[in-house]
Amino acid sequence: MTIAASEAQAIEVVYTAEAIASRIEALAEAIAALRLDGLLAVPILTGSFVFAADLLRGLHRAGLTPEVDFMSMSSYRKGTRSIGQVDILRDMQIDVAGRNVLIIDDILDTGRTLAFAKDLIAARGAARIVSCVLLEKKSRRAVAVDADFVAFDCPPVFVVGYGMDLANRYRELPFVGKVAD
Ligand code: IMP
Ligand code: MG
Repeated sequence: MTIAASEAQAIEVVYTAEAIASRIEALAEAIAALRLDGLLAVPILTGSFVFAADLLRGLHRAGLTPEVDFMSMSSYRKGTRSIGQVDILRDMQIDVAGRNVLIIDDILDTGRTLAFAKDLIAARGAARIVSCVLLEKKSRRAVAVDADFVAFDCPPVFVVGYGMDLANRYRELPFVGKVAD
């Protein structure tokens, strides 16, 4: 299926809203099964905000009562390509020392963002760090890092929607799609 987005750019659906919802239920149950005390969920903004909102409500249905704090990071990109540097645009406010932390991100691509976030939270003394990403592009890793939970193994194409953007557009789409070229 192809959806006509604004300004005549067509978006091809890669993961439907229904498929995403059903993966989120499974991931939330798997995360709950870890029985991590005093869980602190840390979504990495901006791209993860829709996924995090749905995953957090999935965690609620799975019986968890996590605290939530956000970290805003930028992995610099030229158009659709990573150029390698990660910056903190807004840091978290809650002290992670001794805490069980769930990092939530949209895409594990080169791995620089997740590696940076994990190292930072580990250096601040977190007890245990687990990570959950909506999408993983396995072939594109530049640094060795894995996510503990992955909703979908994604082909190496640039995707948008469900929080993810191309130049700040398409975040509102309820599905994950790719811009047709
Ligand atoms: P990494 O640091 O290269 O792993 O990139 C991770 C971040 O880059 C993600 O959190 C996204 O914000 C962004 N990103 C990577 N691939 C895509 C894509 O296909 N569409 C939109 N954003 C992407
Ligand atoms: Mg991101």
